[in-house]
Amino acid sequence: MKNKIIAANWKMNKDRDEAIDFIFKVNEKVKSVKNQAFIFAPSIFLRDLIKRVNSHIKIGAQNMYHEEKGAYTGEISYKMLKSYNIFHVLIGHSERRNIFNETDADVNKKILAAISQEIKPIVCVGESLEERKKNLTNKFISEQIEKALLDVSVDKVEEIIFAYEPLWAIGTGVTASHEEANNTIKMIRNKIRELYNDKVSENINILYGGSVNNKNIDNLLTTSDIDGVLVGGASLDPENFIEMVKREYKKRH
Ligand code: 13P
Repeated sequence: MKNKIIAANWKMNKDRDEAIDFIFKVNEKVKSVKNQAFIFAPSIFLRDLIKRVNSHIKIGAQNMYHEEKGAYTGEISYKMLKSYNIFHVLIGHSERRNIFNETDADVNKKILAAISQEIKPIVCVGESLEERKKNLTNKFISEQIEKALLDVSVDKVEEIIFAYEPLWAIGTGVTASHEEANNTIKMIRNKIRELYNDKVSENINILYGGSVNNKNIDNLLTTSDIDGVLVGGASLDPENFIEMVKREYKKRH
């Protein structure tokens, strides 16, 4: 049985006081939850958050490098994350891919490093508006998935969560309709079935992200294939996040 996943991606927002204030509010109001709740915070806040957060919410990083240590100025290694008890990380967010030029090969290296270290990645995929207009969505995402999962073994692949985040829906207020998001996520599940097997494709968690908010979350999370949401802008307000985390949804199976 799978609980739904409600994940906040703060991106590069908040200062230390705001981040800690958020956690205090969440701790006070979230005493028990059926969903799995995550906050992916800027790395400079991870220590402050993990020390204070209650046991219902998991804290994760927004990025990590694939090497353990070395001359990689500005990067953060999986060893550093583990030393703060951080076991979740976003990999291949479209902002990392497009602004910081991360390639599919980089994404694959990070995934392999994470899963070899018991760090569970949320791997983001999604097409641009141009690809969508040319009807290339399925082809583009299939290729992203194939390249992301290169050399990922069948016994490890279920540790990965995928997030389908169409670029045209991120931060635009234009969300994919729940039918459209569900269909693309079904396609991703089929691709994973083709690469692995039925069991993996049924068990793997696949989220939707892109302008999710308190109003559209219910439609998204009552579809057949969407296991959760990755929320940017609407997760920054603690009350909004708390409301999303506390809602109850039927499990997928
Ligand atoms: P928004 O919810 O602000 O559209 O951001 C989505 C996202 O990129 C989450 O990772």
